[in-house]
Amino acid sequence: MPIEKIFPLSFIQPLAKVESQRRQFYRPIYSLHKSWARRPGSTFRALGLTHFLGEKITNDSNPRDGAYYKNHLFSGKVALDPFCGGGTSIVELNRLGVKTIGIDLNPVAWFTTKKEIEEFNLDLFNQEVKKLTSTIGKKIKSFYTTVCPECKSSSADIMYVFWVRTIKCPSCNTNDDLYKYYIVGKKQRKSSDTMIICPECDQLFFTHNNLHENSTCPQCSYIFIPIKGNCRNKEYSCSKCKESYKLIDILKEKSNSLSARQYAIEYYCSECSIRAYKKIDDMDIKKFIQVENLFHEKHDELLIPIIKLPKEGKNVSNLKNYGFEKFSDLFNKRQLLSLGLLLNSISKIKNSNLMEYFLAAFSSSLEFHSVLCPYNYTMKQIVNVFNFQSFLVPLQFVENNVWGTTKGNGTYITYLRRIKRAKEFCKAPFEIEVSNENIERVPISGDQINASVVNSFEELLKRNEANTYLIAGSSVNLQKYKIPSKSIDLVLTDPPYYDYIQYSELANYFYVWLRLILSRSYKCFLSDLIGAEDEIGRNNSEEEFLTNLTKVFIECERVLKTNSPLIFTFHHSTAKAWTLILTALKNSHFLITAAFPVHSEFNSRPVKGRSQDFIIICRKESDLYLDGYHINQNYLTHHYGINFKNSSRLNEKKTLKCNSDEEFALILPILSYKYLSESFEDIQSCIQDFFT
Ligand SMILES: C[S@@+](CC[C@H](N)C(=O)[O-])C[C@H]1O[C@@H](n2cnc3c(N)ncnc32)[C@H](O)[C@@H]1O
Ligand SMILES: [Zn+2]
Ligand SMILES: [Zn+2]
Ligand SMILES: [Zn+2]
Repeated sequence: MPIEKIFPLSFIQPLAKVESQRRQFYRPIYSLHKSWARRPGSTFRALGLTHFLGEKITNDSNPRDGAYYKNHLFSGKVALDPFCGGGTSIVELNRLGVKTIGIDLNPVAWFTTKKEIEEFNLDLFNQEVKKLTSTIGKKIKSFYTTVCPECKSSSADIMYVFWVRTIKCPSCNTNDDLYKYYIVGKKQRKSSDTMIICPECDQLFFTHNNLHENSTCPQCSYIFIPIKGNCRNKEYSCSKCKESYKLIDILKEKSNSLSARQYAIEYYCSECSIRAYKKIDDMDIKKFIQVENLFHEKHDELLIPIIKLPKEGKNVSNLKNYGFEKFSDLFNKRQLLSLGLLLNSISKIKNSNLMEYFLAAFSSSLEFHSVLCPYNYTMKQIVNVFNFQSFLVPLQFVENNVWGTTKGNGTYITYLRRIKRAKEFCKAPFEIEVSNENIERVPISGDQINASVVNSFEELLKRNEANTYLIAGSSVNLQKYKIPSKSIDLVLTDPPYYDYIQYSELANYFYVWLRLILSRSYKCFLSDLIGAEDEIGRNNSEEEFLTNLTKVFIECERVLKTNSPLIFTFHHSTAKAWTLILTALKNSHFLITAAFPVHSEFNSRPVKGRSQDFIIICRKESDLYLDGYHINQNYLTHHYGINFKNSSRLNEKKTLKCNSDEEFALILPILSYKYLSESFEDIQSCIQDFFT
C-alpha cells in the first residue's frame, strides 16, 4: 500500500507535539547539539517506517502491538536526505536499519549528525569527565567564586553575573548605564517579591510593589519605576542631564562605543545551601581584574576565535551596529579565558572519537556563554543567544558560570550530562505512548542508533550494516558525490523554509570555535567561516531560492528508483513561499500525491496564514504516466486517494472561508496536478486565496 493512503496522521500528531515540547526528555539524542528547525523524530520514524513497511503501522485496539512500537531492519534499502541539518532523518532511518546518505552544506550540521550516530564508550567518557573535573574544571570554577553575604565564606559559586551596557552621554559626558528595566529577578520563580536595583545608588532591594508603580530606595530614598529603564526600545535618556537620543545615532559616531559594567550576582552557597542575589562588591571587581590580567598573560596559548564577523548578513549587520567586529568580541575576557583553557584541555584528549563528544558539549554550551545572553527574571534563568533565531544585543546581559555549579543552566557540566543522556538513548531507544494526558515510555527492544561514517557511495553499498555516507557540501549536484541514477529507495528531507532562518550565518557562531580543533582533521573545517554560496534561502532572493531548490529536486528525481517517493516537510506562512515550492516541484517533474499538516515547534508562535508543518509526499511524474505520457485523475484517485471533488472548492471561492491547514493539505495535490497544464500566475492566485 502506498504511504499516501496509510500514513497515520492522527496517531502521530500527539507524539510530535509532546516531542517538540520536551525534546530533551522524550528524544534526548537531539539535544546533543544545537540545531535549527529540528523536525520531530517521531514524524520521521513514522514516515520511513510506513513507506518501507508498505502497510499500516498502528493498531487501534492495542497501540503497542502496532509496528511503530516494534524493531525493524530494512537491510539493503538506501535513503537520502539532501538537507539533513541536525540529522533527524539520518538517525531515525538508521534505527530502521536503512543505509543513509546525509548531505548538508553546513559543517556544524555534519559534525552534529556524525556524533549522533557514531559509537560511544560510556566508561571512557566517565573517566574523562572525572579527570577534567579535577583539573580544568577546578581551575575554571575558581574564576567564578564570590563571598557569601550570609556566612562570609569566600567560596560561594557564582551562577550568573549581571551586566549592564554603558555609554558616554554626548551632552554631558557622563558614563551612563543603559537599563531596559531596574529588575534583577524574582525571589522565587513567579513569586510576587522582586529584587530591583536603585539606579541612583546601586542598592539591591526586594519590593512587593507592582513593578509598573513607584518604588522608593531604602538607602537613598530615590523614587523610580522598576519596569521603566532609561533606555527602552533603543531610545536613551541620560540619567543626569535627561537629554534623549536614539542609541543607534550615538553609536554611529566612531568615538562612541558601548562598554559594560557588573552590578549584581546570583550565587549559590553550599555552606548555607542558598541561592540568592547580591550586589557586586569590591572583591568581585578585583577578582574580575585579576582574571582579565590572566587572560592577557595566557592570550597566546588560548584557543579562541579571533576571526572577523562575515562581511554581510542580516543578523551580523545588527551586531556591527553595536560595535562588534570579531567573533571573540561576543564574549568577555573571563569567558574567553575559561572557554579557551577548556578547549585546550579538550584538544589534548587522545582518543579522537571521545574528544569529539567533549567538543560537542563545549560547542553546544556556547549558546549560554556570550555577552548576548539575557536573563529571564520571572523564570530566574539565563536565556540562550538564539532565543529568537537571530543575534540580538540585550542592554542587560548575564555571564554564566562556564564550568557549572550545583544550580544553574547551560553550563559545561549540564551539557556533558546531555551527551550522556543522548548516547544512552542510542543504545536503548524508546518511543512514547500518549493516552488521556498520560505519557509513557515504551522501550523498543532490539533498536539501536549506531553507524560508521563512510566516505563514498560505493563503500555504503558494499557493507551490510546500516552505515551512513555523510557529506558536508551542497546538494545542487549529486553527481559530484557519485550517487548513481535510480539508486535510492526514499528521499526524506526538510528543505530550508525560504527566508525564515539564516542557517550558516547563525551556525558560524559554533563553527569558528569548532574549527580551532576540527580543521586539523576535516577539510570541511578549513575555511575561516562556513562557505555558503549555494545556501538556499540565504539572500531572501526569490529567484535564487527557486533555481537552487529546483536543482536539488532535479537531482532527487534522477537518483530515485522507480516508484520511490520524495517526502519532505515544509513550513511557511506566505503564499509566495508555497508558490515557489510548487514551481520547483513542477520544474523537476514531481507531482504531490498527498499532504498532511503536523505539529511543529513553530506552533507556539502565532502566525498569519499557514501555521503548521506540512508533510508533502511526491511521486516522479514518470511513475504516474499511464500510457507513456498521460497522467489520469482516476488513476491518482485510485492509487493515492487524491479526492478531486475538493477541486470544486478552488473554483467556488466562497467555500474557501474556513481556510484551515487541513483544507490546504487536501488542496495541495490538486494544485500540483492543475499546475501540469496551468500557468504560474493561475496557481499563484489560487494559493493566495488560502492566505488571505
Ligand atoms: C530545515 S533545515 C533541516 C533541518 C533538519 N531536518 C533537522 O531536523 O535538523 C535545512 C538545511 O538545509 C541546509 N542547506 C541549505 N542549502 C543547502 C544546499 N544547497 N545544499 C545542502 N544543504 C543545504 C541548511 O544548512 C539547513 O541545515
Ligand atoms: Zn553562605
Ligand atoms: Zn538608592
Ligand atoms: Zn547627559
